[in-house]
Amino acid sequence: MSDNPYRLPRSVIPTRYDLRVEPDLAAFTFAGNVKIVVDIEDAISEIVMNGHQIEVAAATLQCDQGLLTLAATYDADDQRVTLHLPKTVPPGDGVIDIEFTGILNDELVGFYRSSFTDVDGVEQVVATTQFEATDARRAFPCFDEPDMKAVFGITLVVPEHLTAVSNSGKVSRQPVGDGTVAITFADTMKMSTYLVAYVIGPFEISRTVDVDGVPLQVVAPRGKGHLGEFALDAGAFCLRYLRDYYGIPYPGDKVDMVAIPDFAFGAMENLGCITFRESALLIDPAVATLNEMLRIVDVVAHELAHMWFGDLVTMKWWDGIWLNEAFATFMEMKCTNAMRPEWKRWLTFGAVERPWAFGVDSLKSTRPVEFEVRSPEEANEMFDALTYGKGSSVLRMLEQFIGEEAFREGVGNYLRKHAFDNTITDDLWEGLNEASGLAVGVIMDSWIHQHGYPRLHIERAGGGLRISQSRFLRAPDESDATLWQIPIVIRGESSSGPFEDRFLLTGPDGLVAIDGDVEWAVGNAGGHGFYRASYEPALGAALIDHLDSLSDLERYCLADDAWAFVEAGTLPAAEYLELIAAYRNESEPEVWRTVLQGLGSVRHHLVNDEDLPRFREIAAEILTGAFARLGWEPAPDDSDLTKRLRGSLVSAMGRLADDPDVIERSKGLASAWLNSSGTHDPDVAQAALFTTAAHGDDQTFERIFSAYRGAANPQEEVKLLQALSFFEGEGFVDRILAAVEGGQIRTQDASWVTARLFNARKSGAYAWQEVRKQWTSLSGKMPTMTIRRLIEGITALSDPKVAADVTAFFAETPIPLAAKTVEQNLERLNANVAMRERESGPLAEYLRS
Ligand code: BES
Ligand code: ZN
Repeated sequence: MSDNPYRLPRSVIPTRYDLRVEPDLAAFTFAGNVKIVVDIEDAISEIVMNGHQIEVAAATLQCDQGLLTLAATYDADDQRVTLHLPKTVPPGDGVIDIEFTGILNDELVGFYRSSFTDVDGVEQVVATTQFEATDARRAFPCFDEPDMKAVFGITLVVPEHLTAVSNSGKVSRQPVGDGTVAITFADTMKMSTYLVAYVIGPFEISRTVDVDGVPLQVVAPRGKGHLGEFALDAGAFCLRYLRDYYGIPYPGDKVDMVAIPDFAFGAMENLGCITFRESALLIDPAVATLNEMLRIVDVVAHELAHMWFGDLVTMKWWDGIWLNEAFATFMEMKCTNAMRPEWKRWLTFGAVERPWAFGVDSLKSTRPVEFEVRSPEEANEMFDALTYGKGSSVLRMLEQFIGEEAFREGVGNYLRKHAFDNTITDDLWEGLNEASGLAVGVIMDSWIHQHGYPRLHIERAGGGLRISQSRFLRAPDESDATLWQIPIVIRGESSSGPFEDRFLLTGPDGLVAIDGDVEWAVGNAGGHGFYRASYEPALGAALIDHLDSLSDLERYCLADDAWAFVEAGTLPAAEYLELIAAYRNESEPEVWRTVLQGLGSVRHHLVNDEDLPRFREIAAEILTGAFARLGWEPAPDDSDLTKRLRGSLVSAMGRLADDPDVIERSKGLASAWLNSSGTHDPDVAQAALFTTAAHGDDQTFERIFSAYRGAANPQEEVKLLQALSFFEGEGFVDRILAAVEGGQIRTQDASWVTARLFNARKSGAYAWQEVRKQWTSLSGKMPTMTIRRLIEGITALSDPKVAADVTAFFAETPIPLAAKTVEQNLERLNANVAMRERESGPLAEYLRS
């Protein structure tokens, strides 16, 4: 700790903050006072705290030696404020008292401003906080490290017509003159600084739902309150579910879920005062797609899961952030799955969150889930696919291996033991060891402290099956001998009947004894493992013949692994196309997801323009049967998932197969939808909109753009913005970049919209050229934490010349906040180039044969 300039000394430990803040929403400034009760552990001559972009106007220390006046100095690089004492003070108690001022910034971190146009067309300002990972220090001087937990007593001095919320319930409201009031909130529990929150603005507050004694509300910008009902239901369900799962009452005194017009992430788990991007909280379910509703339930569940896991029990330092985020993601699945079992959330997890992690973890430049963190930049870079996707996937693998009940009990043990305190990863393993009787930590270390993941290879051998493991990499490397402790579940059928085996593979290979001759076998039975499986040719072929015997997730894995093997160069693209053709009768929507993604990737990276017509035919052959079965019109008894599949198929027919009839019909539907005439199935309407955009002209662009500017709800706004990013052509790129520059697109959305421009077949390269040219001003429009999404977009640019230019650009333009992201995405980009060079020739021959 001592050799890290970003860590604070432990000579002064805070136990309580009394914070009074007075924002000026017109001048974009704030003034404040903080009184911090501290234990002085050693003799001190200075107090080192965190502070960033705030001014200390006056500071004192009340201690055994009397009231001492302190002089502040700043260290901008290390984001510290040092308060110098006039003399040495011995160990004892003290109260630090600091007057300070700061700026309500527009960077979406710290204490920042956000704005929106209300129903009367009036511009309104909101002041809000976002402190994770290390930005509480931008709002008040503090000891901004997660293990320096304290109680917070917060008072906000605000104009009387505005709403103010914070972590706890209000205890008093007193006029202080000039039309302002001082609102005081109840003391919080003992918690970390990054969880403190306060939001002030013209909000409307929903009805209060009493969740067995916990008041739950939605707080929305005035005029949008009617969109909060769905989240209220989800919140009530999740709060109960989580309390029962953990076996611990909710640790705060109320829950407000607050929608913020400008928000860098999806949401933030401030205790009792969860902040959200509007599209992650507010929704009109009557016109929403399944995915849009799923998003709300997911985000609400995820943040509520943190109230215990993260807020009540917190990692000691940011190297343990995976524990927080992986577990909240895991619980997010559990809650959503419990609330809407018909949505099959765990299947979607296997098809969305896990492959997201696989993608990064197949790279040489991946990192272990738990990873050393020193600086704030490094802390912020931890919120990635490995923390969320791999972390939650290996927890799921473990849970399925040790059993759901033992897992739940272990988690409860852990939380009860460490309530109001901080932990390291081994503390969780200890709880799980107790409950399961297994040495969980030994298994998990190979997944958490080691980078990468294995591919299992399965072959027939005398007496059964031989399973071997080797690291799976986009660019295979024989010399890499990394081994994992792999919880294996293998099942199949032999001449003696069905078999299933569970064991831990710890060495490079093992033999599974099986009676009779093996007919077929699945190496990742159930599909919960964080690994891929390949088969000797005869077993591979047998699996395709037995697709009907596989579960949804097993069928998913077979196709998804196959695409990964194309990427790694061990399966030719033509063979992949033949394999997925066997899925044409597939009925499970999530399995279609990987088929459609694979087709999309083949089209995007591997098919030359002259071969597109033949590719379209092949895509249509795979899609037609399912598309014809579902058609355009929902049937009364369609499940939500079937409706979503219909949308995906319409969209694939329109954008992968470029079917002229589908395009025509989509244009008609999209036009009617934009006119709000008629009723529309939300999934079909969305698919029609996207197809229309992908084949759209200037006039259509302008029409969608103006609809975007006047969208009726957050989901509509997002989907219209997505549609804008689908237009193919240089003029559209110019138009979008100008809208980012001109502020017609919110900074919170700038990076993802820009990233999507690289996907356009006709204008992706041009988009890159323009982004490169305008880099300084464009990236200046993007909140620092969101730049990563822009960088992730570059992997779409697999043309060798463009890729070389991208690589050269990042070599000369370091992005300090996303160094790892740049490295990983360049590796991926270059792997895509290599794949294109390797596969496109043979694929062209196949398509022409
Ligand atoms: N704690 C995070 C928010 C966060 C992310 C803060 C990065 C600081 C840096 C929050 O719990 C979270 O994970 N939000 C997700 C949504 C969630 C449903 C996966 C997000 O914002 O994307
Ligand atoms: Zn989270």
